[in-house]
Amino acid sequence: MTSGDRGHPPEQWGSSLGFVLAAAGSAVGLGNLWGFAYRASQGGGAAFVVLYLLIVAVVCLPVLVAEMVLGRSTGHAPLLAPITAGGRRWAPLGWLFMAAAIGILSYYAVLMGWTGRSLIHALSAPLPADIPAAERFFAGISSGGDAVLGHLISLALTGVVVAAGIKAGIERLTRWAMPLLFLLLLALVIWAAFLPGAHEGYNGFLLRWDASKLTDLTTIRNAFTQAFFSIGTGIGAILAYSTYLNRRSGIPGEAVAVVGMDTAVGLMAGCITFPLVASFGLVDVVSSSTVGTLFISLPTGLASLGGAGRVVAALFFLLAYVAAITSSVSLLEVPVSSLMDRLGWSRSRSVWLMVLLIAVIGLPSCLDVAVLERMDALFGGVCLIAGGLLLALLLGWQVPDRFRTDLLESGSSPDLVRLLRWALRWISVPAISLGLLISIIDLAKSWSGAGA
Ligand code: PHE
Repeated sequence: MTSGDRGHPPEQWGSSLGFVLAAAGSAVGLGNLWGFAYRASQGGGAAFVVLYLLIVAVVCLPVLVAEMVLGRSTGHAPLLAPITAGGRRWAPLGWLFMAAAIGILSYYAVLMGWTGRSLIHALSAPLPADIPAAERFFAGISSGGDAVLGHLISLALTGVVVAAGIKAGIERLTRWAMPLLFLLLLALVIWAAFLPGAHEGYNGFLLRWDASKLTDLTTIRNAFTQAFFSIGTGIGAILAYSTYLNRRSGIPGEAVAVVGMDTAVGLMAGCITFPLVASFGLVDVVSSSTVGTLFISLPTGLASLGGAGRVVAALFFLLAYVAAITSSVSLLEVPVSSLMDRLGWSRSRSVWLMVLLIAVIGLPSCLDVAVLERMDALFGGVCLIAGGLLLALLLGWQVPDRFRTDLLESGSSPDLVRLLRWALRWISVPAISLGLLISIIDLAKSWSGAGA
């Protein structure tokens, strides 16, 4: 490792659009389709949506730009980039990126397995006729052999794409997957808008305004977690992708495109799930929300539509699986690029070793949904937000010149750079500190059984 030097990754994105689609692919995932609905349904309503949008625009966006600058300006993978920029004492941040990416992928692949299994089921058998039947089906796919198999297949597919490399693997996948995903999503949003109870769905969950929820701890934790998880900043995934960026890319514009697409998909997913829930009288199931909610309520609701319902269910789970794999590849790229960078290993050796390790770490989540929920709260919640805070401190306060110089040299206007740096220092840092504190307190409360 040569501190201060710029690493020279041998690969580059084919084009700026290729990078933006890949980064948007990382951001858009199960977090948007399943996490947004799951968290929005935990009582926050419109207050949750407002907090979420606010956090995305003023807190996450500057951090995302900082993460991209750190990757491009150092040219090093997530493990070494913080040391290269800030010196030895920033080494823990590199390890936090590694731990968080491995931790998240270990249960994300399990969720992908459930999604794939639900897709196959929708294609091959009638949907469950009522909630108890759906719960039995879900219990079957979310534990034991089925869950392990789905987890392993999903990890193996992710490994195949990452092993093929940046341009031939990840960029090639996201180039067709992202447009397909938008089309499917749009078709389902339009379909859902014509369901009999659509308006109650929008009003009940997304538009219901209760100002007191703005200060409710669980709503705040949900909005923070959802914003960071959904954009996927704070974990080194976008950092890893940015090391393959050329020096001319306009990072702020690309960051806005990524955040815009991600937010649009989250809201569109809400416009599919909530009308469905309201229309088929599934409000109670959703309000007692767990990670399994969508997998239970969606197929049950659609069952009453017969064959057409099966088509919609299959499309939805296909969409979710495509969205998930464009995210899981970015998670795997974090440890893979770090091993290549730190130890000089080949891409395929790094990929398969990591796939093996993550497969083992994910086993407890395959066997017990409660473990999966805790992994999500810890790695997808606290670790990700902590990573975001450290990134903002590193580029906002420790090495602000690196932030400024990189952006100015690639053609961003001085006013924009000043504004971004100001936001990183004075908005992102205090807001994330507060969000992290609230998240830890609320999580500790709920784990000790006192909270929601
Ligand atoms: N953003 C992805 C999702 O919404 C998950 C993810 C998190 C991807 C962190 C990369 C980094 O599903």
